[in-house]
Amino acid sequence: MTRTILIDPVTRIEGHAKISIHLDASGAVSTAHFHVGEFRGFEAFCVGRPFSEMAAITARICGICPVSHLLAAAKTGDQLLAVSIPPAAERLRRLMNLAQIIQSHALSFFHLSSPDFLLGWDSDPAQRNVFGLIAADPELARGGIRLRQFGQAVIERLGGRKIHPAWAVPGGVRSSMQPDDRDWIRSRLSEAVATTQGALELFKRLLDGPLAAEAGDFGDFPSLFLALVGPDDRWEHYGGQLRLIDSTGAPVGRDLPSDGLSPEQLDNLLAEAVEPWTYLKFPYHKPLGPEAGSYRVGPLARLNVCERIGHERADRELLELRQRGGRVVTSSFHYHLARLIEILAALEAIEALLDDPALSDTHVRAHAGVNAREAVGVSEAPRGTLFHHYRVDSGGLIEAVNLIIATGQNNRAMNRTITQIARQHIQAGPAEAGPGDQLPEIAEGLLNRVEAGIRCFDPCLSCSTHAAGQMPLHVQLIGPEGEVLRERWRD
Ligand code: MG
Ligand code: NI
Repeated sequence: MTRTILIDPVTRIEGHAKISIHLDASGAVSTAHFHVGEFRGFEAFCVGRPFSEMAAITARICGICPVSHLLAAAKTGDQLLAVSIPPAAERLRRLMNLAQIIQSHALSFFHLSSPDFLLGWDSDPAQRNVFGLIAADPELARGGIRLRQFGQAVIERLGGRKIHPAWAVPGGVRSSMQPDDRDWIRSRLSEAVATTQGALELFKRLLDGPLAAEAGDFGDFPSLFLALVGPDDRWEHYGGQLRLIDSTGAPVGRDLPSDGLSPEQLDNLLAEAVEPWTYLKFPYHKPLGPEAGSYRVGPLARLNVCERIGHERADRELLELRQRGGRVVTSSFHYHLARLIEILAALEAIEALLDDPALSDTHVRAHAGVNAREAVGVSEAPRGTLFHHYRVDSGGLIEAVNLIIATGQNNRAMNRTITQIARQHIQAGPAEAGPGDQLPEIAEGLLNRVEAGIRCFDPCLSCSTHAAGQMPLHVQLIGPEGEVLRERWRD
């Protein structure tokens, strides 16, 4: 006998999903599942299209992270052409990715998650949003909104369009940097740094106070971590080496090149498991199997995998993060702190790029024909490592596509996190739980905490389901025989 709680829709994440919390006959939580229920078969849809259009096509997979798909597609295209892209093009792509990290992390932290931190887990859900935040802390809310706008404006200035900037192409980018864009970006950096540092100070105070319990045990478990790492083991988001570590920090296997990662290397590295209750796959490190080989990606993985950021302010914060959580931080709640540290790192990295004379070179694209029939492109999306893998015919038409998205790679960890939170907070004994109508109401604060377990990972359900736009989420409490005991919807 089991009973289940469903949280459907889960709110303040990107896309539609459902959470089910399963109770056993004693009323204890046996497991919790994060379900992704829609799938458009995007990969099949790409077959027959020219690979050179993949950057523009895949940017449309997701209105939330188009830049990430654009860059992974362009990098896969570079490999099919078998060219080295011009130095200015690499720097410009990096600049756009940094801007995407800033705008996406700002959305996640300020708009989606900070209402929980500032207003409380149990606060009125009608107020627990960005509008409630504006009322409670107008300076923080406005700063967060402007920070996100800054990231979006950089993307727009480089790509010409805010949404679907089909600007990165196989071989490079379409246009070089204009001097007035460089000056404008530079003029906005100090405000963005000040906003981020203010948010960091505030959030660290909360971690030492009201959020100490969550920081300690919210989705805390050992796992592997996968991310790109740069030269001298520096923080990386675009190129470098692909590194997998365990929760002691020991490397698992050898680093692999992100440029020119062969399909065989990818195939030996990762496999994808499926479960009957969700369309979202569960990638894992193939040699260790689906459980021991499960790994996390994203901001916390990138900070765990590197030795240093390579920029002064962000390095100070990284040191503090490690004093707080250890050399390898295993609490999923620290994805939030990692996100703020990465915003700071991205701002400092942008500052350094703007000082690089190579950024302004007008040679930004290499031209070639199809020189390889199969290739993999890797980039770090804000949410984690993104793989595009294409096979083409001799004319460059797509024969097969596989995308391994960040949200899928965190799927196992998201399920473990909500199970851990549900077990901690639901202690309905058999007497208390009883049959159907004698069950206690699902407390708002409990539902919100379980949802917040998912929000740590900032999943992109548009990428996961390949369906556009924002969709609601749904929670169900399910009984021992599969009966729905309680459910809630939010949108
Ligand atoms: Mg796939
Ligand atoms: Ni996405």
